[in-house]
Amino acid sequence: MNKTIENGFSFIIFGGTGDLTNRKIIPAFFQLYKRKILPNNFKIIIIGRREYTQKDYYEFLYNALSKFASINNKDDFLNFAKYIIYYKMDYLNNALYPKLKQFILDIEAQYYIAKNRIYYLASSQEHFEIIIQNLKNNHFIEDATISRLMIEKPFGKNLENAKALNELLVDTFKEENIYRVDHYLGKEMLQNILVIRFSNIIFESLWNNQFIDHIQITSSETIGIENRGKLYDSTGAIRDMLQNHMLQLLSLVAMEKPKDLTPDSIKDEKTKVLQNIKHYSIEEICENVVLGQYGSKGNIKAYREEDNVNPNSMTETFVAMRLEIDNPRWRGVNFYFRTGKRMAKKCTEIVVQFKEVQNNLYKDFNILPNSLIIKIQPMEGIIMQFNTKKPRTINTIVPVQMDFCQNCEIGFNSPEAYERLLFDVLRGDSTLFTRWDEVEISWKLIDKIIDSCKNKSLTFPNYLPGENGPKEADMLLARFNHKWHNEEDNYENI
Ligand code: BG6
Repeated sequence: MNKTIENGFSFIIFGGTGDLTNRKIIPAFFQLYKRKILPNNFKIIIIGRREYTQKDYYEFLYNALSKFASINNKDDFLNFAKYIIYYKMDYLNNALYPKLKQFILDIEAQYYIAKNRIYYLASSQEHFEIIIQNLKNNHFIEDATISRLMIEKPFGKNLENAKALNELLVDTFKEENIYRVDHYLGKEMLQNILVIRFSNIIFESLWNNQFIDHIQITSSETIGIENRGKLYDSTGAIRDMLQNHMLQLLSLVAMEKPKDLTPDSIKDEKTKVLQNIKHYSIEEICENVVLGQYGSKGNIKAYREEDNVNPNSMTETFVAMRLEIDNPRWRGVNFYFRTGKRMAKKCTEIVVQFKEVQNNLYKDFNILPNSLIIKIQPMEGIIMQFNTKKPRTINTIVPVQMDFCQNCEIGFNSPEAYERLLFDVLRGDSTLFTRWDEVEISWKLIDKIIDSCKNKSLTFPNYLPGENGPKEADMLLARFNHKWHNEEDNYENI
């Protein structure tokens, strides 16, 4: 059987009443439903531990969708809700799985749905193992060619733990049917990176160490840790953002041209980037990594004052880092990363800073090197910065920006990352999901960073809400005569 959706499908969510399901998964399904691209015979089976009747659940879901999706009227909701079934079950209880299996079989028979099942692990990570073990032991995977599994990050807590989880997964599902979710890959502008690079000769021909001076990758957030104190305190920014989203951004920016656009060719090249990250000693890692934790300001609590966070916590809420890629394309180019909570702006962007013109005729003028800024969120677009003569002056040169704003266009609305990711899983396209070797290499790197930083003497908190991390992050770049790009750096309007 093919992984198509025409014959219907069952989508079974473990952790069905959690935040992720309500904020992202169901709203994304609702959008797909409104776009009329789902078949008539599908069911979403929500497995949760709460004592809900179907009616209670619909009320709960209606409230969630009213907040996180655009429902125009109750009929819209009721028509969509027909596809959703609430199934109360304690998924930590092994004895209940045979009954769940029978329930799924009955639903498939009743609604003429092919045995085309997608299991989604949206529960907390410590439950992944027991759920997968039970799916395996109770033969939920009847047709291994099409039974799929979507699994949320974090994929493990370290290399060893991720390996054990992966062994269990590949023992249960085929690798091509395991969809490791990194929701950044569903973002429109991330998918655009390869197009920008490889379909434009003006970029393709300059994308190397001959012309590029350095690259900055930033993902800053203004929010704190919200209600995730317990989880975040044992995770920290390195595991939460760097291990996955930031390294995925790096792979796309730095990879060689894949031989074609198949998922494996793209992933082969992405993996090579991670393999080629220059090996640093412990001392070098320490010199190139800056950690931060936010303090309090006004009525914003310090990280250590957040609920379920250790009052003496040394968990980082900010990380900045420099690394290099040891291959002919990138040797000598610095890659800088920066991500954190409670920073000045919500912004994810890649800044490609080009070198200065050689033998520049205008060397005595105050000119800036060119840069290309790929804006990922909240604004999506591309900004190119170049120098031009200021009109009505004799010899004044000013930097200007050419700005392509993708989501400023009237009527343009980039699909939410999860909408794209879910639809790809339904179609069986794994391009936007991470393969095990990518995850494995990134954990090797991250474990090493965490180990090396363990003994760093740090004084936390070291930045205030609204700042762009601790001052050491600026010093990291200053050592190389570089400066972080901040949106508030304005350019002259001519
Ligand atoms: C998640 C992290 O993966 O990404 C969160 O666990 C973070 O801590 C979130 O807030 C950021 O996602 P986005 O799409 O808002 O940039």
